[in-house]
Amino acid sequence: MRSVTKDNITDVFMGYLSQDTDPRMREVMGSLVRHLHDFARETNLTHDEWRTGIAFLEGCAAVESEDHHEFVLASDVLGLSSLVDMLHSTPSATSSSVLGPFHVSGAPPLEIGGDMKRHYGGPVLLVEGTIRDEAGNPIAGAELDIWQTAPNGMYASQDEEQDTYSFHGLMTVGDDGRYCFTTVKPVEYTVPSDGPVGDILSACGRHPWRPSHLHYIIKAPGHRTLVTEIFPEDDPYLDQDTVFGVRDDLVMTYHQKPASEFPDGLALSGKVTEPFLYVEFDVTLASA
Ligand code: BEZ
Ligand code: FE
Repeated sequence: MRSVTKDNITDVFMGYLSQDTDPRMREVMGSLVRHLHDFARETNLTHDEWRTGIAFLEGCAAVESEDHHEFVLASDVLGLSSLVDMLHSTPSATSSSVLGPFHVSGAPPLEIGGDMKRHYGGPVLLVEGTIRDEAGNPIAGAELDIWQTAPNGMYASQDEEQDTYSFHGLMTVGDDGRYCFTTVKPVEYTVPSDGPVGDILSACGRHPWRPSHLHYIIKAPGHRTLVTEIFPEDDPYLDQDTVFGVRDDLVMTYHQKPASEFPDGLALSGKVTEPFLYVEFDVTLASA
């Protein structure tokens, strides 16, 4: 096309897409460019604003490394990561939620009833539940990968004071699908905000806080792997999670119980002297 105008440029672009291109590639790329062009037309995007956008992408690339994923963080705070998740969730299964960048694979095994709190201060949280399939049957031998921050709001990979697998555990559930562990009550914390994504958050008048949560990855043969989180219903950031990870079925009540009701047979049995918190979180996995 020789005479490209602001009104026909989108059609011209579509015409440049080769008929031999993979059909899904044509669909995704065509839609992306159509929305990009509409966005520029709709906002009457200026050169300065366009340059600011390019500088943002360059800034993300400059700080990107093996353990710092600024582009993923950008996708998280724009709601894209959560939207993609929700587009592909199974309604009959437990909702998925964001993975985040702080999971360390290869965590040491955590026995059923084991403890992740160790010497850390803060309220003991006892978590238990059953992993089931969509028909409600327990999934024997499902694997539960658990991680969270320390009470200082930092993950092991962010904090020199913690060892590699601090507040990480890998549990294999029993024949009854049950899991159970103790930890310290998670705290709310901020996502990394010292890079270009932090600048976008401030420019939009947004904060970088996430409500407190426990992360799970649950795997079982014949089932879809579930990446999810559990949130307490009284968290002040529940309605304003900066990465849009909260779903109704992931919000749980943490019940306070006297130390005398702490169950026997767990790693911390006999050692809990203060009131503790208790949450039951059952999980349904979708079939593969
Ligand atoms: C997290 O929950 O660990 C997390 C999720 C998204 C971005 C940053 C952190
Ligand atoms: Fe997290």
